[in-house]
Amino acid sequence: MSVTALSLFSRAGGMPFFERLVAAFYDGVAGDDVLGPLYPDFPDFEPAKHRLTLFLAQYWGGPHTYMEERGHPRLRMRHFPFHVGPLERDRWLTHMAAAVELTCAEVDDGEAIAGELMAYFVPAAEHLRNDTGLPITSAGYGKD
Ligand code: HEM
Repeated sequence: MSVTALSLFSRAGGMPFFERLVAAFYDGVAGDDVLGPLYPDFPDFEPAKHRLTLFLAQYWGGPHTYMEERGHPRLRMRHFPFHVGPLERDRWLTHMAAAVELTCAEVDDGEAIAGELMAYFVPAAEHLRNDTGLPITSAGYGKD
Protein backbone atom coordinates (compact mmCIF):
# COMPACT_ATOMS: atom_id res chain seq x y z
CA MET A 1 0.00 0.00 0.00
CA SER A 2 1.43 3.37 -0.86
CA VAL A 3 0.90 6.33 1.41
CA THR A 4 0.90 9.82 -0.05
CA ALA A 5 1.20 12.88 2.18
CA LEU A 6 -1.76 15.18 1.73
CA SER A 7 -0.66 18.50 0.24
CA LEU A 8 -0.94 21.68 2.27
CA PHE A 9 -3.27 22.88 -0.49
CA SER A 10 -5.75 20.09 0.39
CA ARG A 11 -5.26 20.28 4.15
CA ALA A 12 -5.98 24.02 4.17
CA GLY A 13 -9.21 23.59 2.19
CA GLY A 14 -8.11 24.23 -1.40
CA MET A 15 -8.45 27.38 -3.49
CA PRO A 16 -10.80 29.32 -1.13
CA PHE A 17 -8.08 29.25 1.56
CA PHE A 18 -5.52 30.81 -0.79
CA GLU A 19 -8.04 33.38 -2.01
CA ARG A 20 -8.70 34.45 1.61
CA LEU A 21 -5.00 34.49 2.46
CA VAL A 22 -4.07 36.65 -0.52
CA ALA A 23 -7.05 39.00 -0.03
CA ALA A 24 -5.98 39.59 3.58
CA PHE A 25 -2.37 40.12 2.48
CA TYR A 26 -3.32 42.75 -0.12
CA ASP A 27 -5.56 44.54 2.39
CA GLY A 28 -2.31 45.19 4.24
CA VAL A 29 -0.30 46.07 1.12
CA ALA A 30 -2.99 48.51 -0.07
CA GLY A 31 -2.47 50.60 3.05
CA ASP A 32 1.34 50.41 2.92
CA ASP A 33 3.02 53.56 1.64
CA VAL A 34 6.27 51.73 0.74
CA LEU A 35 4.90 48.59 -0.94
CA GLY A 36 1.60 49.80 -2.41
CA PRO A 37 3.02 52.14 -5.09
CA LEU A 38 5.46 49.45 -6.29
CA TYR A 39 2.62 47.43 -7.78
CA PRO A 40 2.26 48.08 -11.51
CA ASP A 41 -1.55 48.41 -11.41
CA PHE A 42 -1.63 50.41 -8.15
CA PRO A 43 -4.18 51.17 -6.71
CA ASP A 44 -5.84 48.18 -8.39
CA PHE A 45 -4.51 45.01 -6.73
CA GLU A 46 -6.83 42.55 -8.46
CA PRO A 47 -4.31 41.42 -11.13
CA ALA A 48 -1.59 40.96 -8.48
CA LYS A 49 -4.03 39.04 -6.25
CA HIS A 50 -4.85 36.70 -9.10
CA ARG A 51 -1.17 35.96 -9.80
CA LEU A 52 -0.14 35.43 -6.17
CA THR A 53 -3.17 33.22 -5.45
CA LEU A 54 -2.41 30.96 -8.40
CA PHE A 55 1.30 30.85 -7.62
CA LEU A 56 0.79 29.87 -3.97
CA ALA A 57 -1.90 27.30 -4.80
CA GLN A 58 0.47 25.68 -7.30
CA TYR A 59 3.47 25.84 -4.96
CA TRP A 60 1.57 24.07 -2.18
CA GLY A 61 0.28 21.24 -4.35
CA GLY A 62 -2.82 22.64 -6.06
CA PRO A 63 -3.61 23.05 -9.77
CA HIS A 64 -0.92 24.28 -12.16
CA THR A 65 -2.93 27.19 -13.51
CA TYR A 66 -0.14 29.64 -12.63
CA MET A 67 2.25 27.78 -14.93
CA GLU A 68 -0.36 27.68 -17.70
CA GLU A 69 -1.01 31.42 -17.45
CA ARG A 70 2.43 32.80 -16.59
CA GLY A 71 4.96 30.10 -17.43
CA HIS A 72 7.85 29.15 -15.14
CA PRO A 73 7.70 31.31 -11.97
CA ARG A 74 11.30 32.69 -12.11
CA LEU A 75 10.47 34.77 -9.06
CA ARG A 76 13.83 36.46 -8.69
CA MET A 77 13.76 37.60 -12.27
CA ARG A 78 10.17 38.81 -11.98
CA HIS A 79 11.08 40.93 -8.96
CA PHE A 80 14.04 42.67 -10.60
CA PRO A 81 11.91 45.66 -11.68
CA PHE A 82 11.05 46.41 -8.02
CA HIS A 83 13.51 47.39 -5.35
CA VAL A 84 13.51 44.58 -2.75
CA GLY A 85 15.68 45.61 0.19
CA PRO A 86 15.33 44.87 3.92
CA LEU A 87 12.52 47.41 4.34
CA GLU A 88 10.41 45.97 1.51
CA ARG A 89 11.14 42.40 2.65
CA ASP A 90 10.08 43.17 6.21
CA ARG A 91 6.92 45.00 5.21
CA TRP A 92 5.96 42.17 2.84
CA LEU A 93 6.54 39.62 5.61
CA THR A 94 4.63 41.68 8.18
CA HIS A 95 1.53 41.78 5.96
CA MET A 96 1.88 38.11 5.06
CA ALA A 97 2.34 37.03 8.69
CA ALA A 98 -0.82 38.95 9.66
CA ALA A 99 -2.73 37.36 6.77
CA VAL A 100 -1.46 33.88 7.68
CA GLU A 101 -2.50 34.32 11.31
CA LEU A 102 -5.97 35.56 10.38
CA THR A 103 -6.64 32.96 7.71
CA CYS A 104 -5.17 29.95 9.51
CA ALA A 105 -7.28 30.67 12.60
CA GLU A 106 -10.29 29.57 10.52
CA VAL A 107 -9.01 26.12 9.43
CA ASP A 108 -8.37 22.76 11.09
CA ASP A 109 -4.73 22.23 11.92
CA GLY A 110 -4.23 25.95 11.31
CA GLU A 111 -1.27 26.29 13.65
CA ALA A 112 0.76 23.68 11.79
CA ILE A 113 -0.26 25.12 8.43
CA ALA A 114 0.74 28.63 9.55
CA GLY A 115 4.14 27.31 10.62
CA GLU A 116 4.74 25.61 7.28
CA LEU A 117 3.72 28.70 5.32
CA MET A 118 5.97 31.05 7.30
CA ALA A 119 8.89 28.60 7.13
CA TYR A 120 8.70 29.12 3.37
CA PHE A 121 7.90 32.84 3.25
CA VAL A 122 10.67 34.10 5.54
CA PRO A 123 13.67 32.73 3.60
CA ALA A 124 11.91 33.20 0.24
CA ALA A 125 11.44 36.93 0.89
CA GLU A 126 15.12 37.25 1.83
CA HIS A 127 16.06 35.34 -1.33
CA LEU A 128 14.15 37.87 -3.46
CA ARG A 129 16.28 40.78 -2.23
CA ASN A 130 17.96 42.49 -5.14
CA ASP A 131 19.74 45.31 -3.32
CA THR A 132 22.91 43.47 -2.31
CA GLY A 133 24.81 43.26 -5.58
CA LEU A 134 25.58 39.63 -4.75
CA PRO A 135 25.57 37.24 -7.73
CA ILE A 136 22.74 35.05 -6.40
CA THR A 137 21.83 32.41 -8.96
CA SER A 138 18.38 31.16 -9.87
CA ALA A 139 18.76 28.12 -7.59
CA GLY A 140 16.93 28.22 -4.28
CA TYR A 141 13.66 29.24 -2.79
CA GLY A 142 10.54 30.16 -4.67
CA LYS A 143 11.05 27.56 -7.40
CA ASP A 144 12.53 30.18 -9.67
C1 HEM B 1 8.03 35.05 -0.18
C2 HEM B 1 8.14 36.18 -0.81
C3 HEM B 1 7.43 36.50 -2.11
C4 HEM B 1 6.71 35.71 -2.98
C5 HEM B 1 6.41 34.22 -2.86
C6 HEM B 1 6.24 36.58 -4.05
C7 HEM B 1 5.48 36.16 -5.12
C8 HEM B 1 5.13 36.94 -6.18
C9 HEM B 1 4.45 36.49 -7.36
C10 HEM B 1 4.01 35.05 -7.63
C11 HEM B 1 4.28 37.54 -8.19
C12 HEM B 1 3.64 37.53 -9.58
C13 HEM B 1 4.70 37.14 -10.62
C14 HEM B 1 4.14 37.13 -12.02
O1 HEM B 1 3.51 36.13 -12.42
O2 HEM B 1 4.35 38.11 -12.74
C15 HEM B 1 4.85 38.70 -7.52
C16 HEM B 1 4.83 39.97 -8.02
C17 HEM B 1 5.26 41.07 -7.31
N1 HEM B 1 5.90 41.08 -6.11
FE1 HEM B 1 6.33 39.49 -5.00
N2 HEM B 1 6.69 37.85 -3.82
C18 HEM B 1 7.42 37.84 -2.66
C19 HEM B 1 8.05 38.92 -2.09
C20 HEM B 1 7.96 40.20 -2.51
C21 HEM B 1 8.57 41.33 -1.84
C22 HEM B 1 9.45 41.25 -0.58
C23 HEM B 1 8.20 42.43 -2.53
C24 HEM B 1 8.63 43.81 -2.16
C25 HEM B 1 8.96 44.73 -3.02
C26 HEM B 1 7.38 42.00 -3.67
C27 HEM B 1 6.80 42.82 -4.62
C28 HEM B 1 6.14 42.39 -5.75
C29 HEM B 1 5.63 43.27 -6.78
C30 HEM B 1 5.68 44.78 -6.76
C31 HEM B 1 5.07 42.44 -7.76
C32 HEM B 1 4.37 42.91 -9.05
C33 HEM B 1 2.91 42.65 -9.02
C34 HEM B 1 2.52 41.49 -9.91
O3 HEM B 1 2.97 41.46 -11.07
O4 HEM B 1 1.82 40.61 -9.47
N3 HEM B 1 7.24 40.64 -3.61
N4 HEM B 1 5.34 38.32 -6.30
